[in-house]
Amino acid sequence: MSDEAAVGSTGAGRSKGGSLIGVFDSGIGGLTVLKELVARLPGFRMVYFGDTARTPYGTKSPETIIRYAIEDTEYLLRLGAKVIVVACHSASSVATEALKERFPGLPIFEVVTPSVKKALAVTKRKVIGVIGTRATVESGVYERLLRSLDPEVKVYGNPCPLLVPLVEEGWLKKPETRMIVKKCLIPLKMKGIDTLVLGCTHYPVLKKIIQAKAGKRVILVDPAEELAEEVKGFLETHPGLARELAPDGEPRILVSDLTPAFSRVARLFLGRQVQLLKAEDAPA
Ligand code: DGL
Repeated sequence: MSDEAAVGSTGAGRSKGGSLIGVFDSGIGGLTVLKELVARLPGFRMVYFGDTARTPYGTKSPETIIRYAIEDTEYLLRLGAKVIVVACHSASSVATEALKERFPGLPIFEVVTPSVKKALAVTKRKVIGVIGTRATVESGVYERLLRSLDPEVKVYGNPCPLLVPLVEEGWLKKPETRMIVKKCLIPLKMKGIDTLVLGCTHYPVLKKIIQAKAGKRVILVDPAEELAEEVKGFLETHPGLARELAPDGEPRILVSDLTPAFSRVARLFLGRQVQLLKAEDAPA
């Protein structure tokens, strides 16, 4: 199937064969990242690929996540990506090194590095909490990076996998969700964290509840915002590439599997109605 067909026939999805910013995630949660990118780089040519056929990544082994991340990147490169944004925290945590090795010279942005920098900049007592999927927390990447930049910092991670389905079911204000957020945060609060990294695409949607349960003195780090700032800064210092990538109007949102539920949830993440297009030739 051609690139043109892969992005649909509505015109909204047409790639015109030009260069673009390719964003990928395990599903549609990464639209929280796309939202921040679009806010800072309006009109830039972007294609988002959500691997909904193989979601979730956060429960999978590092080998599988790395393989998926490589395939997702190759897919976006075929569509014309000149810059890759890994919106998925599980893929960012586990596969960044493999991606950089596999695609030398390709600008690859991921969510971990900018949130590490931000967390170090805002923490006062140097006690940082990280919540995410099992893959993210068990990768130990936050501890490694944070402590390589500041050996005095204490890092505590806690996987909160239950929050992903709760968000996808739209249970944003339910008492059950509040209770589970509270449970997830208890071990971190007991360690006296003053900064908390929201290490999963779905968590920014629960920011208010997380802030309330973490306590108002805990500073939340939203990796989506930090990453978007980083990509913006990069394009400002690479005007030639920036010219190639802009402007083209609306981002195109492709998924490897399409159901009505995905479309409903996409709206929640992006904050507005969007059209998802089935990418028939996506990796599977
Ligand atoms: N996008 C994933 C992440 O940020 C969450 C969903 C999944 O497990 O695939 O880690």
